[in-house]
Amino acid sequence: MNFSIILSKEVVAKNTVTLKFSFDKRVYAGQFAMVWTPGKGEIPISFSHTGDPKGITIKNYGDMSAPIVALNAGERIFFRGPYGNSFTKPKDGDYLLIGGGSGIASLAPMISKNAHGIISARSMEDLFFLDKFEKSKVIATTDDGSFGIKGNALDALRTLDLEKFQNIYVCGPEKMMKGIYDYIKPKNIAAEFSLERPMKCAIGICDSCSVNGIQICKTGPVFGMDSLRDFTEFGTTRLMLSGKRVNI
Ligand SMILES: Cc1cc2nc3c(=O)[nH]c(=O)nc-3n(C[C@H](O)[C@H](O)[C@H](O)COP(=O)(O)OP(=O)(O)OC[C@H]3O[C@@H](n4cnc5c(N)ncnc54)[C@H](O)[C@@H]3O)c2cc1C
Ligand code: FES
Repeated sequence: MNFSIILSKEVVAKNTVTLKFSFDKRVYAGQFAMVWTPGKGEIPISFSHTGDPKGITIKNYGDMSAPIVALNAGERIFFRGPYGNSFTKPKDGDYLLIGGGSGIASLAPMISKNAHGIISARSMEDLFFLDKFEKSKVIATTDDGSFGIKGNALDALRTLDLEKFQNIYVCGPEKMMKGIYDYIKPKNIAAEFSLERPMKCAIGICDSCSVNGIQICKTGPVFGMDSLRDFTEFGTTRLMLSGKRVNI
């Protein structure tokens, strides 16, 4: 377990903060840390900043994320990692990042002048990192229509000519990712998806993150189109941390 002193805290959206801290290990876009709160436990959180300092961007969803969101500059953050594989480095040319909810956090290290973006959220106050893209290259969608296109990431994707992108990178709620996967599958376009399944150990022991027998924490969380083809559980069912299987 590592700990670092939080250097800065920025509120980036409703109930969502970026915490920056020093950490001298190399981290790649798509990798995550297990962030620990004493007396509560650990949750997986992606590195939204992989340079120096490192950073995470986390939304307060509930019991485990709330105490991390409440941390302040000067306090200690406990974590282990980095874990998981990473997105492939974008080649020269344009590419597309699609982030739903807090999913844009794991894609953020890949935002550059060649990056186009679709960022989807429930409402305007939940959107973040739009300002990291060139204004003409990013589309926002909100479920309630309070900002950008009223609808979801797939509605925005349908308005774009996908031929111009070298690669598409996606992270967000699994139902959204499945919809995007089904849409681009017949178009034969390279795409990678980061699967955010509940995790306990992150080192291949507990099996809580398994999808069709593949441990997401070790083999993923990033998978290409070919791997996802074999995942019948992708976008359909998942294990809760209790071990109960539920529909997505
Ligand atoms: C590899 C990986 C990387 C992740 N990276 C990030 C990250 O960078 N930033 C971040 O904020 N979260 C990230 N998550 C999700 C994070 O681990 C969850 O937010 C966390 O497990 C929520 O725990 P909780 O106990 O606070 O909420 P819970 O008590 O587990 O959930 C409370 C409610 O919120 C819902 N909920 C929980 N998580 C999400 C979610 N991600 N999207 C929509 N609804 C949700 C639950 O279904 C439930 O209804 C990542 C998950 C994985 C597996
Ligand atoms: S989280 Fe334990 S095996 Fe993946």
